[in-house]
Amino acid sequence: MTDHKIWDPFIRLFHWSLVAGFAANALILDDESKVHEWVGYAVVALVGLRLLWGFVGPLSARFASFFPSQTAVMEQIGDIATHRRRAHLGHSPLGALMIFNLLAVMLAIGVTGYMMTTDAYWGVEWVEEAHEMLVVWAEISVVLHIAAVVFESWRTGVNLPRAMITGKKSVPDDVRLAR
Ligand code: HEM
Ligand code: HEM
Repeated sequence: MTDHKIWDPFIRLFHWSLVAGFAANALILDDESKVHEWVGYAVVALVGLRLLWGFVGPLSARFASFFPSQTAVMEQIGDIATHRRRAHLGHSPLGALMIFNLLAVMLAIGVTGYMMTTDAYWGVEWVEEAHEMLVVWAEISVVLHIAAVVFESWRTGVNLPRAMITGKKSVPDDVRLAR
């Protein structure tokens, strides 16, 4: 095993706070309460900071370092299809697509949530419906995200959830690294 330091403390704190905030609002808190709104704004603030970090943070946190090209996506699909075991040190191309989807849907939930509190859109049905549908889309995405993390951990032999806790990816010595 070779350890690679990948995720800085901000990324890890961001990730698990986002999980807590989203889960609390989607599953636990009363959606008519003020707490729901504040937790929702906290999620939006977290995503805002993450967007900034994507430009000024360390290399593996930068969007430029994991922005997925079509070739890279096809290569990863090829790896999966042909059982070629290659690991990515940062986010994988398919992982990156999911990450952009998750960040965007969190912002859209926040915007529609805020709209419901304004005089102009208060009680407007399509806004409420959009908020609800976006939450459902986010929930589907999260289930796929977790399934993909488990699958990729199994396929590449790298424990990805542990890396999101400790910051270090431990790559088995017989596994090659993808670009
Ligand atoms: C509400 C639920 C979740 C949301 C919204 C979410 C969102 C995200 C986001 C936005 C990232 C990108 C991190 C970054 O670069 O900033 C990410 C990465 C990651 N998430 Fe989650 N996540 C959720 C649940 C989970 C759970 C339960 C696990 C553990 C099984 C997990 C494991 C990971 C891992 C391992 C990565 C890094 C993947 C890689 O190595 O490229 N996530 N997640
Ligand atoms: C992580 C972000 C958020 C999640 C997961 C979330 C989730 C939800 C869910 C599941 C509902 C119930 C939808 C239904 O069944 O009708 C809801 C309703 C609502 N949300 Fe959010 N929300 C988030 C952010 C926000 C924000 C930022 C605001 C406003 C500042 C907000 C304001 C509202 C309002 C006003 C309702 C309607 C409550 C009612 O029925 O009177 N939400 N939200």
